[in-house]
Amino acid sequence: MRIETQRESERLGAVQIHGLQKVYELDSGEHYGYDDSYNNSVIQRISSEALYEKQKQMAIVVPVKNERLKLIEGVLVGIPSPCQIIVVSNSPRGPVDRFEMEKDAIENFCRFTNKRVTVVHQKDVGIAKAIELAGYTELLDDKGLVRSGKAEGMIMGTLLAKWLGKKYLGFVDSDNYFPGAVHEYVQEYAAGFVMHDTDNTFVRISWHSKPKIMENSLFFAKWGRSSVHSNNALNRLLAHYTGYETEVVKTGNAGEHALTVDLALNIEYAAGYAVETHHFINLLEMYSGILDETEPTAFRDKITICQIESRNPHLHESKGDDHVEDMIDASLSVIYNSPLCPELLKRELASEKARRLKVEETESFDKVKVYGNLNTLNIGVFLENCEKALGNAKVELSV
Ligand code: GDD
Ligand code: MG
Repeated sequence: MRIETQRESERLGAVQIHGLQKVYELDSGEHYGYDDSYNNSVIQRISSEALYEKQKQMAIVVPVKNERLKLIEGVLVGIPSPCQIIVVSNSPRGPVDRFEMEKDAIENFCRFTNKRVTVVHQKDVGIAKAIELAGYTELLDDKGLVRSGKAEGMIMGTLLAKWLGKKYLGFVDSDNYFPGAVHEYVQEYAAGFVMHDTDNTFVRISWHSKPKIMENSLFFAKWGRSSVHSNNALNRLLAHYTGYETEVVKTGNAGEHALTVDLALNIEYAAGYAVETHHFINLLEMYSGILDETEPTAFRDKITICQIESRNPHLHESKGDDHVEDMIDASLSVIYNSPLCPELLKRELASEKARRLKVEETESFDKVKVYGNLNTLNIGVFLENCEKALGNAKVELSV
């Protein structure tokens, strides 16, 4: 891959946020026999071997809820071979057992590709028990099973990536129409980890365009309806603390993102669709040194957030306007309700919400549920009990 080097970046305490990096060549060849004289101050070449080395240590978590089987299959097709795929499904088990249908389709995919895919249901009793014994009961509902929601599935995926011994963890939605886009995201995750080879790296993708039909022709929109709001609010938050206006944040609620398993196990996850924005906020809460209560030891190591602009258009299943409004609300809620959010920004967010909803009164934001830092879960106990619950599956699935 050929990718531009980082230019602008913002630094708050231990958190370094790099500006968006453009990709100039998706595959720029192998390590040997290539002219590297083009590696200069503006562009760097990352060999295909270097990307593959990272992918060998990477789990890709694919959250699924009621997606068409063909879509899921297309997503799996796009994931590069060295990655361990983990599918966490919350599809209904009745009256039609969608999960069973998904398992059949994935098994078929594995037969053709000779690949290993770990498939679990979000309501798996054994995993829920392991989470309970590890003391992280807040993730469980009144039946003792993992709660529903994308973020809750992501937490399960994170724990399973640790169980499978992976160092890196990436997320890819299962409703993506283009296998080529999925492939590109995972290559870019790996590129981020090559460029920032640390235990605390976060790679977030901003897709280049999203195709839409407008007035009977194709239009390639640049920004998602919800990302405009979360990026803008996060940038204003940063500007409040640095004193300089900035546009550095371009991936506030990026669903396509990857991070080291170490970092993933040391961060809070907000429920549902607030999860990505909250990751950003939580890193700033914990490691920017702004909040007094941050433990001094908490920001010993640098946390790097790397943002990469993908080249493929992003086309996924359309889920309606109400869903987008809910997502905007959830994203802004974690900014609004953070102790980092200054009064002025709160007032602005509230009146912008009123304008969006076309109401007179300013609106505040209901708090979204935020799960405790995953470091409060006893990982040793979880791994031991997860092994008891899924150990056989591990062998069976390693085709
Ligand atoms: N395991 C699991 N459990 N998966 C779920 C659940 C659940 O309860 N709910 C949804 N999913 C899966 C969907 O099947 C899909 O693959 C993925 O999570 C994302 O859900 P969508 O409903 O398609 O979200 P979106 O496309 O509107 O939003 C995406 O992009 C946003 C940024 O633009 C998501 O990735 C958001 O999290 C992201 O902020
Ligand atoms: Mg989607």
